[in-house]
Amino acid sequence: MRKVLVIHGPNLNMLGKREVEVYGMTTLDEINESIKEEVKRYELEVEIFQSNHEGEIVDKIQSALGRFDCIIINPGALTHYSIAIRDALAAVKIPAIEVHLSNIHAREEFRHKSVIAPVAIGQIVGFGRHSYLLAIKAAAGILG
Ligand code: DQA
Repeated sequence: MRKVLVIHGPNLNMLGKREVEVYGMTTLDEINESIKEEVKRYELEVEIFQSNHEGEIVDKIQSALGRFDCIIINPGALTHYSIAIRDALAAVKIPAIEVHLSNIHAREEFRHKSVIAPVAIGQIVGFGRHSYLLAIKAAAGILG
């Protein structure tokens, strides 16, 4: 079975309590449950990881080499400045899909730039938790 690694970055563990007017009331546990349901439709295996620490995310991406076929990543605020995460994705060369709950392009200017996007296959933004479910569908499409 094809294996997908889902990575949630900083502060996404606060979903449901954090800026609910932007991110909604859905908790990370609820999102993870819907991801686990969705992967069954496509016969994919999934592992889900959340960290508030850039280095831990870099370690996780490195450890995915040879173990995962696709990475779905919401790097949170690290999206906008983490060259280390970008380089880790470029190093492992595992197809990556960048995901955001909110439409980062419609928000503050500092969120418009993603340093991750150039090393991702594509970006799915603005659909709340559905962004992750669309990314699962995209992963299934890429993996064939
Ligand atoms: C986010 C967008 C980022 O700009 C922000 O820092 C987040 C969440 C999103 O999913 O919309 O933490 O990645």
